[in-house]
Amino acid sequence: MPKPKIAVLPGDGIGPEVTRAAVAVLQRVRPDVECVEAIVGGAAIAKKLPPLPEASRLACDRSDAILFGSVGLPRYDGKPLQERPEYALFLLRRDYELFANIRPVRVFAGLEDASSLKAELVRGLDLVVVRELTGGIYFSEPKERRIVNGIESAVDTMIYRAPEVERIARVAFDLARARRKRLTSVDKQNILETSRLWRRIVNRVATEYPDVELEHVLVDNAAMQLVRRPSSFDVIVTENMFGDILSDEAAILTGSIGTLPSASFGTRATPGGRFGLYEPISGSAPDIAGKGIANPTAAILSVAMLLRYSLGDETNAARIERAVERAYAHGARTAEIATNGSVALSTVAFTDVVTAQLEI
Ligand code: IPM
Ligand code: MN
Repeated sequence: MPKPKIAVLPGDGIGPEVTRAAVAVLQRVRPDVECVEAIVGGAAIAKKLPPLPEASRLACDRSDAILFGSVGLPRYDGKPLQERPEYALFLLRRDYELFANIRPVRVFAGLEDASSLKAELVRGLDLVVVRELTGGIYFSEPKERRIVNGIESAVDTMIYRAPEVERIARVAFDLARARRKRLTSVDKQNILETSRLWRRIVNRVATEYPDVELEHVLVDNAAMQLVRRPSSFDVIVTENMFGDILSDEAAILTGSIGTLPSASFGTRATPGGRFGLYEPISGSAPDIAGKGIANPTAAILSVAMLLRYSLGDETNAARIERAVERAYAHGARTAEIATNGSVALSTVAFTDVVTAQLEI
């Protein structure tokens, strides 16, 4: 088999520091993987390049997976989408058709008190949000500003096609089947035509998965149930914008958004699985960038997902996940979750604890 190749796009804010930590862990478990670094987001714009420069796209084309840091800086707020760092992410999702966004939400033992919910509600929390990532209101046309009868207006459009719903539903059912066999499909079928299509297609796919228990929940209710009974969820599947909102809500149940990885994959096959983009969900956190205190957990766990889904290396994926769990169990904490009794470790020091746990 040819050597696996990874495009590493560190991006902005804390992206470079947490990505460096994640690459160190990757190289420790898989020294054979070739990593090609490329520039993206605000880091590219600062060099008078577009948010996703051609050379960076080429590096992605030639890879089995993308390890992404984060994009976004306050100085670009208010600019049109095409001139913002986030546009890089938008293009990668669109052009590689990364339709399935997997966002696991787990509370590590010992971190229950970091949650804004009562510890007993989030103890052992382990759910996954499956978000449709290339359709719906993010991408449908028309999407424009208009003057209508002299009045300034704007329009966004939400379109879903049956095959788009079907393929994301399959990803979610497969995932649920490999877990606790409970799937919650979230929509707004009392109001939206796209949601009525969504529900019909999900029900149709469900007939192929009689072993998975399916429930439908309206999005407003889902937002409420997530803070009321979070542990009752296993896999949640939903359309693009509902998924954007609910996955942030689900993420903060853990107390630190810095611990949560994500995977986005499409249809392109790799020798070990499928091409995908892996990134922390935490964002660029410019307020703490460059201080060496960011939590690298999400980036390190993104490497685990990359190994699992794009390189077909479940052994090392599970090995990294266990190492992170043990680091937390032994009390390792970065600044944002350090409590009175614990020392706040730097990004590098925390990564060293995880690396040491790899060998056990
Ligand atoms: C996310 C982010 C993006 C989104 C932004 C940066 C465009 O919030 O990945 O959830 O809205 O999808
Ligand atoms: Mn988001």
